[in-house]
Amino acid sequence: MNKTHGHVGWVFLAAALATSQGACSKSKDNGDSVNQNQTQEGPADQGPDLPRLTGGDATKGQQVFRFETFGNEGFWTDAARLPAGIVAAKLTPVQALQAGLSVNVDALDAATKTAVANELAAQGTSGPLLNDPATTLALLNANAVIGVVVKDSNGDGKLDVATGDKVGVSCALCHAITDGSVVKSPNNLGGGSIGKQVDGPTPHNLNVGGIFALAANTRAFFPLLQVKFAAFGNKSIGRAPSDQGLTETSTEAQVDALVGNPAFYPLGTFDDAPDGTGAQQHIAPFFRTDLAAPWGTPGDIARLENFDNLVYTVLLDPTSLVTPEGRAFLRALLDEAAGNELADDYLTILKDTQVRGKGGVVGEGFPYITATQVTADKAGTEEAPVGLRVSEDALRDLNAYTDGLAAPAPGAFDATLAARGKEQFAARCTRCHNVAQSKRVPSFIVPMKSIFPGYNPTVLAERPAEAGVRPIAFDPIQNDPSTIFDDKTVVVDASRRGEPRGSAMPLLLDLGRKDRFLHDSSVVGLTSLVDPMRGDKAPHPFYVPDAAQRTELVEFLKSL
Ligand code: HEC
Ligand code: HEC
Repeated sequence: MNKTHGHVGWVFLAAALATSQGACSKSKDNGDSVNQNQTQEGPADQGPDLPRLTGGDATKGQQVFRFETFGNEGFWTDAARLPAGIVAAKLTPVQALQAGLSVNVDALDAATKTAVANELAAQGTSGPLLNDPATTLALLNANAVIGVVVKDSNGDGKLDVATGDKVGVSCALCHAITDGSVVKSPNNLGGGSIGKQVDGPTPHNLNVGGIFALAANTRAFFPLLQVKFAAFGNKSIGRAPSDQGLTETSTEAQVDALVGNPAFYPLGTFDDAPDGTGAQQHIAPFFRTDLAAPWGTPGDIARLENFDNLVYTVLLDPTSLVTPEGRAFLRALLDEAAGNELADDYLTILKDTQVRGKGGVVGEGFPYITATQVTADKAGTEEAPVGLRVSEDALRDLNAYTDGLAAPAPGAFDATLAARGKEQFAARCTRCHNVAQSKRVPSFIVPMKSIFPGYNPTVLAERPAEAGVRPIAFDPIQNDPSTIFDDKTVVVDASRRGEPRGSAMPLLLDLGRKDRFLHDSSVVGLTSLVDPMRGDKAPHPFYVPDAAQRTELVEFLKSL
C-alpha cells in the first residue's frame, strides 16, 4: 500500500516500499511469532528480494571504502578533535595497536618498512620506534593507519597533520583487518595488527569507545551516546546505569568515562543509530553484500546504498542532526519532544565547546560533509534521512566492491564432526537460516517474541499514529547485561517498512574468528549460544540438548 504522508519525517522508507516491495507490502503478522515452514535446506519462504544499486566499478569502490570521507575530516578534526587528542595523549604505535587500530604495511615506504621489521626482529614490540609518539604521526601521514584518513586540507601537496592537514574516517576503520603478517592480532598487545590490509572482516577488538575518548572533544559524539532524556522522565537507555546517561552539561571527563569503559562500550562495537540510546552492537561483517538485505540489525533499511549513505551523512558527521532536516529526522525517529531535546542539547554542546562549522563561526555551518541536498519530498526517506545524499556513483562503486569481497577462509575445524553438525543444523536451525551460506540470506525479520521470548517492554512514548510505527518501548531491566538485547530496537525498528520489530537474519560466515555472538555481543562462545543452560526466555533460544551434538554443531558453524 502506498500511503501519502503529510509529515516529512514519516516518509522514511515509504519510497523504498512503494518501488521495491509490491506484492510483499501486505501487512505482516502482528509481530509476535515467526511462522516459517522449514525444509532441510532452509526456510521455505525466503522473503522478498530487496534490490540495490548495481553496475558500479569495484576498483573505484575500493578507494571509496578505504579513503573516501566526503569531508568528514571537518567533524573529526574540528568538532571531535581526534588528532589534537592523539597528540596530547602522546599516543605511541603500540598504544594505537592496543586500541585495536591496524597498520597497512603496504602504505609504508621501504625505509620505514625495513626499520620496523628490524626493530621487531631485535626487540619485539618494545623497541623505540614503535613506542615513539612521532612514529604514530608518521604512520598517520603515510595513511597507513587503516580507516583514519589524512587529507591534504591545506593543499600544499603533502600530508602532514602537524601543518594543518585534517583527519577523517572511512569505512575501513571498522570494516577491515590485516593478515597479521608483520604483527599478529590478537596478541599480547590487544586488538590491532600490522600486515596487508584485508577489507570486510570485523576487527573484533577495535576499541571504538576508547578512540572516541581519545578525541579532545568527545562531547561531539553526543547523539550517538547514552543520553538522559527529560522527555522520557530523565531515563537513559544503554549499558550504563540509567542515571549515568549524559546531558548537555556533562563534562568531557564524564563523557570519556562512559565511552572509555568497556563494560559500557564493549570492544568491537559501535552504535549506528543517532537516537540517544547507547545500543552498541558488534560490528557486522561488510563482505558479500550481494547476499544480504535488509540492513541494520533491526532490518530497518531495505537498500544497501541507503545504509551506506546514512553512515556517511549522519554517523561519520553527526552535526547534520542540527540542520532543519536533521531535526525533522530526530523528531520522526524519537517523538516531537525528545527529538527536539536531542537536537537542542547537541547544538548547545557544539556551541559550549567552541565548535566552528564550515565558515568558521561557532555553532554554525553544519554539517561539514559534502553531499547533495535532496528535494523536500525525499528528505526523511530511507534514501536521505537528513535530506542529504552523497555521490550516487560512489555509492554504486562501493556496492560493487563490497559485493565482491569474499568471506575469509575458515580457520581450523574437524571435518568429520562438522559433517555431523551439518545434520544437526539442517534439523534444528533451518526454520530461519539457510544451510548454504552461498545463498542470499532470508530477508524476513524475526519478530521479538521469537528471537527474544523474554521481551516484555514498557512503552516510553507513542509515536504519530499515521506512520503505523510501533511505540518507543524498552525492556525495563535493560541495564542488566543479560537483557540488553532489545536496546537496539527501543527506537529503531523495521515497523516503518511494514515489518515487525525484531532482528534481521545474519550471514553465518567468519564465525571461527569470533568469540562473542548476537548483535549485542551478549553470548560468549558458540557452544554457549546453543546450550540450553541459557534458558527458554533468553535471546536466540535455539539449542542442542546433547553435549556431543553441540560440539558437532559448533564445528559445522566454524567451517562456514
Ligand atoms: C565506528 C565504526 C564503524 C564505521 C566507521 C563504519 N561502520 Fe559500518 N557497521 C558498524 C557496526 C557496529 C555495524 C553493525 C550495525 C548493524 O548491523 O546494525 C556496521 C554494519 C554495517 C553494515 C551491515 C549492516 C548489516 O545489516 O549487516 C554496512 C553495510 C555498513 N556497516 C556500512 C558501512 C559504511 C558504508 C561505512 C563507511 C561509510 C561504515 N559502515 C563505517 C560500525 C562501523
Ligand atoms: C527463529 C529464527 C532462528 C532460528 C530457529 C535460529 N536462528 Fe540463529 N539467528 C537468527 C537471527 C534473527 C539472528 C540474529 C540475532 C541478533 O543478533 O539480532 C541469529 C543469529 C545467529 C548466530 C550469530 C551470528 C553472529 O555473528 O553473532 C548464530 C551462530 C546462529 N544464529 C546459529 C543458529 C543455530 C546453530 C541455530 C539452530 C540451533 C539457529 N541459529 C536457529 C534466527 C534464528
